[in-house]
Amino acid sequence: MKCGVFDSGIGGLSVAREILNAKLFDEIIYFGDTARVPYGNKNESTIIRYSLEALEFLKNFDIDFLIVACNSASSVAIEELKKEASFPVIGVIEAGVKAIENEKKDANILLTGTKRTINSQKYQHLLKQKGFKKIIPKATPLFVPLVEEGIVEGKIVDEVFDLYFHDIKKDEIDLIILGCTHYPFLEKSFKKHFKNAKLIHSGQAIVKMLKNDFSLKEKKESKIKLFASDNPEELRSRAKEWLNSSQV
Ligand code: SIN
Repeated sequence: MKCGVFDSGIGGLSVAREILNAKLFDEIIYFGDTARVPYGNKNESTIIRYSLEALEFLKNFDIDFLIVACNSASSVAIEELKKEASFPVIGVIEAGVKAIENEKKDANILLTGTKRTINSQKYQHLLKQKGFKKIIPKATPLFVPLVEEGIVEGKIVDEVFDLYFHDIKKDEIDLIILGCTHYPFLEKSFKKHFKNAKLIHSGQAIVKMLKNDFSLKEKKESKIKLFASDNPEELRSRAKEWLNSSQV
């Protein structure tokens, strides 16, 4: 069984890593649209067009599932992708919300993501449907280029945390939705600034959904193939660093 994973760039490796480690597919075909990253500050119709192009590319590999790792694409293009695919398409937003459905409904939830993801209201809408009331949405786009540059902790990252979260009572936050593929790489910094919060990772949420809703079981071996619309060497070298896999 094959699974396509699509992201705007290299950040989706955080999702691919979880799927690869869970060994739910014989092969993962990863496509990062590195020529056009980031999607988070583009308009809706552009993101839909890019996402449909990625789907067309991944169809060439006879995939059985498509995972939309990019939150910005999941927030605006998921319905169009579902219409065009003859296999299940799962977005990180639906998976992320499902992953916390049993948490306390009065939990203070900090929702982080790109401008497109936050402005689309998709997370907020689904969270409210599940009964959550205390949602603090924060667009935190500067985290994306920091991770792209491999800067995930230290002085600059701390200053960006202060810039975005200076008005938030950090100790009162119970859950943080890492609503962008890049943010799991900032895990240490999130934990440093939000000591009491549980972090919600898209990749782990996707794995949970694949196991529970599609009854996928662990395979003996799982491989990954990587494709990028620009600079595939950079994607490969990041994958070597981030995937802890010898097969990259
Ligand atoms: C982006 O493409 O802007 C970042 C990825 C994401 O939204 O998850």
